Amino acid sequence: MGPEKGAGVSEPSVRELPSNGTIQVRWRHRVLSCNNAFTAEGDSLAELFPDEAAPHRVLCVMDEGLAAAQPDLPASINTWIDRHASRLSAAGTVLVLPGGEGAKNDRTVFDQTVRAIHDRRICRQSFVLAVGGGAMLDAVGLAASTAHRGVRLIRLPSTTLGQADAGVGVKNGINAFGAKNLIGTFAPPWAVVNDAELLPTLTDRDWRAGLSESLKVALLKSPDLLDDVEQSVKALMARDLKTMERIVTRTADLHVAHIVQGGDPFEIQRARPLDFGHWSAHRLEQMTGFRLSHGDAVAIGLLIDLQYAALSLGGSSSLVSRVTDCLASLGFPLTSDAMGDEDRLLEGIERFREHLGGILAITMVTEIGTSSEVSSIDLDQMRQAIRMVRGRCEKRQTRAG
Ligand SMILES: NC(=O)c1ccc[n+]([C@@H]2O[C@H](COP(=O)([O-])OP(=O)(O)OC[C@H]3O[C@@H](n4cnc5c(N)ncnc54)[C@H](O)[C@@H]3O)[C@@H](O)[C@H]2O)c1
Ligand SMILES: [Zn+2]
Repeated sequence: MGPEKGAGVSEPSVRELPSNGTIQVRWRHRVLSCNNAFTAEGDSLAELFPDEAAPHRVLCVMDEGLAAAQPDLPASINTWIDRHASRLSAAGTVLVLPGGEGAKNDRTVFDQTVRAIHDRRICRQSFVLAVGGGAMLDAVGLAASTAHRGVRLIRLPSTTLGQADAGVGVKNGINAFGAKNLIGTFAPPWAVVNDAELLPTLTDRDWRAGLSESLKVALLKSPDLLDDVEQSVKALMARDLKTMERIVTRTADLHVAHIVQGGDPFEIQRARPLDFGHWSAHRLEQMTGFRLSHGDAVAIGLLIDLQYAALSLGGSSSLVSRVTDCLASLGFPLTSDAMGDEDRLLEGIERFREHLGGILAITMVTEIGTSSEVSSIDLDQMRQAIRMVRGRCEKRQTRAG
């Protein structure tokens, strides 16, 4: 027989151990901007590598597209590391790995980075220095955040989208089973360095790509940035580096401020304002086998959700026209054949709902700086919005042709 209990009082069967408590971890999120990082102008960047435990081993991983466009860069990085020999020692030659979405679509870049971390004896006091586009940074970042349960990562994004958004946050990831970023981590990097001098060799498509993320964050948070992009169209189309640097820096700052001050750096809550326009963008990228770039897909995604907000939520239709004009004048294509397959595109909403954990929260912008989360979407109105975005763009093309 068991011990007798007091009348009517039973001990709870689930109990916390007395040791339970809150774990607090402090991260410093450092994002710097500079010009010509790997020349004497970037010498003070060596201070990012602490005196303690120096010299640190540094494994440099570079995007193949960048290395092809700027063939002297690997040697400049080696020379820079050698010049700071009291703090740094190169862990072998620069490892050049494929860039572009292919870097995330299989495990090659991830595996080769983990292998190099292992073979070149990168430890938890060492650094991975990743230089490249957002896709390569996502895959290399995943490797750095998981090998040895996490080694220090410094990112140098080399695309506008990387410097404005992808490279300055705390997320890494690769695609799997047909889903974007299915395998990933939240892991703040040791530092991010935005060097504008990496940008001039981008193709036109990748030059404009970051500007759709600029408009995204401007619509959410900064009327001034929207004005600035609009007034800078001519300079941006003429590939003026100073103008691009100013806009990218402002965009990065707004993203980083959201991560650092927004109260949810690891996206535990449902609301994801920075994913504005992204449910359809991610879906369109996938539907086109990634022929549509992330930047171009985000431009379309913003217009679809702005148009939906104008149809269903009392949003401003003049804002839809204004953003359409701005994106078109920056050279964004603003349409894709994949938009014709509305059923498949709309499945993106369901995928996003599942990803969030069953309850939908899609950010909608009704006026510049005014956004709200919606928990349901009227699919007929969304179809209408998709058709309107597509139709408007085709009309423009006919007029231009
Ligand atoms: N982690 C995040 O928080 C986050 C946020 C937004 C986007 N992303 C991801 O970022 C990726 C898109 O990144 P992206 O727009 O930088 O494109 P990308 O990484 O695909 O790069 C585009 C092309 O430019 C080449 N390249 C890179 N730098 C170059 C340079 N300076 N000169 C010439 N060519 C160069 C690359 O080799 C590639 O072919 C997507 O996978 C997207 O999901 C991640
Ligand atoms: Zn994006």
